[in-house]
Amino acid sequence: MTGHRNPIVQRAVALGAIAALPLTLAACEIGPKQSQQLGPRGPAMEQVTNLNLVKPAAAPPASAYALTSRDGQKAREVYPELQVLGDISVDEFGLLMANMTAWVVPADAPPEQAGCNYCHNPENMASYEKYTKSVSLNMLKMTQNINVNWQSHVKETGVSCYTCHRGKGVPQYNWSLKPDPVSSGMAGYRPNQNEPSAVVGYASLPNDPNGSFLLNPREIRVNSDQIHPSDMNTSGTKDAEHTYGLMMRISGALGVNCTFCHNSQNFGEWSHSRVQKMTAWYGIRMVRQMNSDYIQPLATVFPAKGWDDQARLGPLGDPLKVNCQTCHQGYNKPLGGVSMLADNPSLREIWRADAPAPAPVAVAAVGAARTTNGVAVAKLVATGAAAQAVVGKADAVRSAMAPATN
Ligand code: HEC
Ligand code: HEC
Ligand code: HEC
Ligand code: HEC
Repeated sequence: MTGHRNPIVQRAVALGAIAALPLTLAACEIGPKQSQQLGPRGPAMEQVTNLNLVKPAAAPPASAYALTSRDGQKAREVYPELQVLGDISVDEFGLLMANMTAWVVPADAPPEQAGCNYCHNPENMASYEKYTKSVSLNMLKMTQNINVNWQSHVKETGVSCYTCHRGKGVPQYNWSLKPDPVSSGMAGYRPNQNEPSAVVGYASLPNDPNGSFLLNPREIRVNSDQIHPSDMNTSGTKDAEHTYGLMMRISGALGVNCTFCHNSQNFGEWSHSRVQKMTAWYGIRMVRQMNSDYIQPLATVFPAKGWDDQARLGPLGDPLKVNCQTCHQGYNKPLGGVSMLADNPSLREIWRADAPAPAPVAVAAVGAARTTNGVAVAKLVATGAAAQAVVGKADAVRSAMAPATN
């Protein structure tokens, strides 16, 4: 047997441990803090920032050159096999190819993968023999879909390949499905929970919010409107734990507190929340669509490993997917809110005949889930209408510029 049996020694050890506790806890968050009031006075809706941890957002690279005109010969007339970018000018097409190279191709790629060769066989540019070109075609469609149909989330800022890739073939922040947890002997069955994980801020919460919420729809509402149990809400403790796991992940990805979106007096109440909660609501749906419609179908296209010997598929054979962190990287707006679309306007247009349908409107979905909450729904109608107006505008641009044959 080890350990002290003497009660005085035991007590001294315990007191010592308790005395040391604040030191250990404070060690992670020593330093000046800044507190900014976000909501109305009273409910403590504020953002507390540890100034020692604040870093300026990464500056996006400059465009290879400035786009001066969108006129000129259409790219399709020169490259008849183009599927996505045929309707822009040859000049604009060339600029986008150059920028895509800077955004996605790693600087240390070996010669046979360097520059344009990351996606192309230089002997035959139209060929799809490199998987990276097929992937890029889907990525182009995905980026256009985000910028055209999800302005409810990305606003006029929008995203480019760089928002996720940052000069790397595989974006730094990605996720894939986890194998089913197995029983760990005496520790019992631990469904990805009660393990120290940075994903959920080292809380005991379930630490796979990505797989739980960001591929397929799953109910995130857990608060009940009723005092007594009723059919209106059948969520249990486990659902609540999963929801909180997701919320920890979202907060970490944006570098914000819960009160950046919520009034903590009532997490479920929309009318007391900040508009950022609505933006996040759209974001969750946008991410699900990106993962299920654009990335998951690439499972058979990606090799298990790339030229750099790094994985392109997760342990269950699914491609590496997107979450809030992939774009946001610790900032409430990715890249500090800088837009890269001025020189790459074709990333905010969809010319294809098989254009995806516009994003869902929040009003209907949120309203249906919470019919008792009249005020909140009325407020959301306003938010949703504004978002729709933006989407409508994008549609108008699209149809005004669409080729006559469409
Ligand atoms: C990250 C992948 C990627 C990189 C890097 C890349 N391209 Fe492309 N390229 C594509 C995709 C995808 C298409 C097809 C687009 C479409 O169908 O609308 C394409 C099409 C082309 C075509 C048309 C080929 C044809 O005849 O159909 C040319 C020319 C081209 N790229 C040139 C370049 C040049 C030059 C560079 C380097 C400056 C480059 N690309 C870098 C992905 C890439
Ligand atoms: C919302 C985030 C996001 C955006 C925007 C995005 N990508 Fe990706 N891309 C990913 C993820 C995640 C992967 C990794 C998939 C995997 O390896 O299974 C990836 C992989 C790729 C790959 C494969 C690279 C390799 O080395 O295997 C290419 C090429 C690529 N993307 C091109 C593009 C291009 C071109 C654009 C812009 C038109 C773009 N991506 C926009 C998230 C994004
Ligand atoms: C970036 C915005 C954002 C942040 C930060 C955020 N949440 Fe949320 N939260 C949401 C959204 C959006 C929903 C509703 C999701 C839906 O309906 O699909 C939600 C839902 C919830 C719910 C369920 C409410 C109900 O109706 O049952 C709880 C509880 C919750 N959040 C707690 C938290 C906690 C705790 C934190 C901090 C750890 C947090 N949230 C941080 C946006 C956010
Ligand atoms: C494809 C990239 C991308 C992904 C993925 C993404 N976002 Fe965003 N998000 C953006 C962009 C771009 C903006 C900036 C829009 C603007 O300029 O107002 C933004 C803005 C926001 C804002 C408003 C911030 C503010 O200061 O007003 C919230 C909240 C937000 N995102 C939450 C989320 C959540 C939650 C997720 C994951 C479920 C997510 N985002 C995933 C691109 C992304």
